[in-house]
Amino acid sequence: MEEEETVVGLDIGTTKVEAIIAQDLGEGEFDVIGVGTTPSEGLKKGVVVNLEKTVESITKAVRDAELMAGVKPSSVYAGIAGGHIRSLNSRGVIAISEPHKEVTKRDVERVIDAAKAVAIPMDREVLHVLPLEFWVDDQPGIKDPVGMMGVRLEVEVHIVTGAVTSAQNICRSIRRADLRVNDLVLQPLASSYAVLTPDEKKLGVALLDIGGGTTDIAIFYDGCIRHTAVVGWGGENITRDIAIGLRTPLEQAERIKVNFGCALPSIVEPDETIKVPGVGGREPRPVSRRILAQIIEPRVEEIFTLALREMRRSDFADLLAAGVVLTGGASMMEGIAELAEQVFDMPAKVGTPITSGGLIDLVSSPIHATGLGLIKYALQSPKGGRRSHLTNNGFFEKILRIMKGWFKDFF
Ligand SMILES: Nc1ncnc2c1ncn2[C@@H]1O[C@H](COP(=O)(O)OP(=O)(O)OP(=O)(O)O)[C@@H](O)[C@H]1O
Ligand SMILES: [Mg+2]
Repeated sequence: MEEEETVVGLDIGTTKVEAIIAQDLGEGEFDVIGVGTTPSEGLKKGVVVNLEKTVESITKAVRDAELMAGVKPSSVYAGIAGGHIRSLNSRGVIAISEPHKEVTKRDVERVIDAAKAVAIPMDREVLHVLPLEFWVDDQPGIKDPVGMMGVRLEVEVHIVTGAVTSAQNICRSIRRADLRVNDLVLQPLASSYAVLTPDEKKLGVALLDIGGGTTDIAIFYDGCIRHTAVVGWGGENITRDIAIGLRTPLEQAERIKVNFGCALPSIVEPDETIKVPGVGGREPRPVSRRILAQIIEPRVEEIFTLALREMRRSDFADLLAAGVVLTGGASMMEGIAELAEQVFDMPAKVGTPITSGGLIDLVSSPIHATGLGLIKYALQSPKGGRRSHLTNNGFFEKILRIMKGWFKDFF
């Protein structure tokens, strides 16, 4: 298989680094042909804190995926997340270059450039500029104005920014693993490509990607992303609570959580017990599974409450007819959707990526939402170098910066 026919999604998470290689079948369709996952040790709360360890994890994950796929890719689409992510909405307006003539692609690029002209601090960089809605003259609610007639074009965009240093550390780790970065994609945006349907995005939905270190939030309404935020808590905090609450080592707490965890004590049979190993060779002892659920519930509730507070910062929290979709590894906990319904007071479900191909059983789990979403994002980007976004001029700046980085590494 030619390398051009493949796309690689690289999810550099707090608990695992995962590379997924897919074969491009055209028209947005793909087959997963390789998956490699290794534990991640170089990140804290979604941010690289140890470059060498991150490079090792990336190298191993990509090599495992390569062996399975039988192809050696040279570039990847990578996710980015962490508490440094900020987002804002901005507006731009231009005169259509030839009044009373058709709006051209060039006009659309110009108006988005105008909307991008907001003061962004030197230590932050633009990751995405996502158009929400266009106005041609006074006609609102236009998704694609190309070909329409008018004299004045306006746009509202959602701008996602991240700390320059965090983005650089991710790019640098990938380059050190001998790979090129095609694009850096906000993780919850990537996950949304894997688990949300167009209907949900149109009706209004909040996506919560509950990972190991962070819970990433993305709100969609009327088909567009409206708000993004990150809560610095995730599955690792639940594990730590269990280790303390049941006085057991962290590895055992993790195992107990994954195998027996439940976020809603009321759905656990009162007489169900589990064996909990003691610390420092102490005898295992039986513990009621309901007690385990009583340790988990408040932490998950806290994560949801913080997420709800973040959601209320946008104007869309009360308009989410499709409710909440949970994804990420920690969303596999029993009872989590029911607890989410109570806290958010709206319908909630666990979103599992929808995919096809021979390796479907390897990747159809919420834990792979970001990796698969990166591939879908890449395939839905317009052809021609798989640009990040038709109208995202920042992409070229990004590539230029990435290339400058290569040279810096040489000297
Ligand atoms: N069956 C399960 N029940 C509960 N939790 C689970 C289960 N399986 C995995 N987890 C938890 O999911 C978390 C890992 O999820 P995921 O792989 O999505 O995180 P990540 O992408 O590495 O981290 P982040 O997105 O925060 O950077 C871990 O805390 C793990 O304990
Ligand atoms: Mg993740």
